[in-house]
Amino acid sequence: MKIAIITGASSGFGKAFAEKIAETGEVDELWVIARRAERLARLASELKIAVRPLALDLGDSRSIKELERLLQEEKPNVRYLVNAAGFGKFGNYNDLTRKESLGMIDVNVRALVAVTLAVLPYMSRGSRLFEIGSSSAFQPLPGFNIYAATKAFVLSYTRALRWELRGRGIHVTAVCPHWLRGTEFFKVAIDTSNGILVKHWWPALDAALVANWALLGNKLGLAVVTGGPHTFIHRLAAKLLPSWLIKGIWRLIR
Ligand SMILES: NC(=O)c1ccc[n+]([C@@H]2O[C@H](COP(=O)([O-])OP(=O)(O)OC[C@H]3O[C@@H](n4cnc5c(N)ncnc54)[C@H](OP(=O)(O)O)[C@@H]3O)[C@@H](O)[C@H]2O)c1
Repeated sequence: MKIAIITGASSGFGKAFAEKIAETGEVDELWVIARRAERLARLASELKIAVRPLALDLGDSRSIKELERLLQEEKPNVRYLVNAAGFGKFGNYNDLTRKESLGMIDVNVRALVAVTLAVLPYMSRGSRLFEIGSSSAFQPLPGFNIYAATKAFVLSYTRALRWELRGRGIHVTAVCPHWLRGTEFFKVAIDTSNGILVKHWWPALDAALVANWALLGNKLGLAVVTGGPHTFIHRLAAKLLPSWLIKGIWRLIR
């Protein structure tokens, strides 16, 4: 059975990936993962493809065991893996609770790696792996510190993994967009004791559009898809300009 596994499919970017992959006709079933079961059930009712909703909290290591058990039982051929589950919290180091700070590391980093390692044995030549990073990966961001650091990890991890997987013919792309519309990201991010520290989320692109670009970029063999010319310029600037200047610009625009 050919399947796609998409984490964070209950809303936003992950949901957009699920909808796009369902249209490819390349898989028999989607396995969609997030905590909110009712959202996953709604997605399943909307798509014209078999969907297996897996209501799992990826911040809990028992969820990875559950996924591993299912994979062992079904032995599917995983054609797509999209690791989109993740969240950010606006605020300085002392504005966030320990739970908020470490939670970002648990979901954005630890769970992403754990899911990748659990699923890779079931991927084969031609399979496609998308690790969802962010343009915040390109430089440190005061006021969005841990989130940006988790995404820097995702970018670095994915770029090296791409090389490690070359012999297996698995196409790996790190997806690092700017702000995205049609997501619940900001609602979650501002819900801290100092969520107004980041006020401007401009310019934001449509999540479905960027999911399309990411799928195309992966087919074209791109290691990193940013989504939009402004993000590409941002990526170049972060490479060329000194770190203090980039952080100064962020302070002005945030
Ligand atoms: N929106 C942006 O501007 C933007 C820009 C660049 C990158 N990104 C990245 O895009 C990815 C998707 O975010 P989004 O923008 O689509 O935000 P979103 O609408 O809030 O979606 C986040 C998804 O992650 C899931 N999730 C969060 N914590 C989880 C947990 N502990 N266990 C399982 N699932 C969990 C959520 O599902 P439940 O709540 O149902 O568990 C939801 O499906 C994230 O990695 C984010 O960092 C977003």
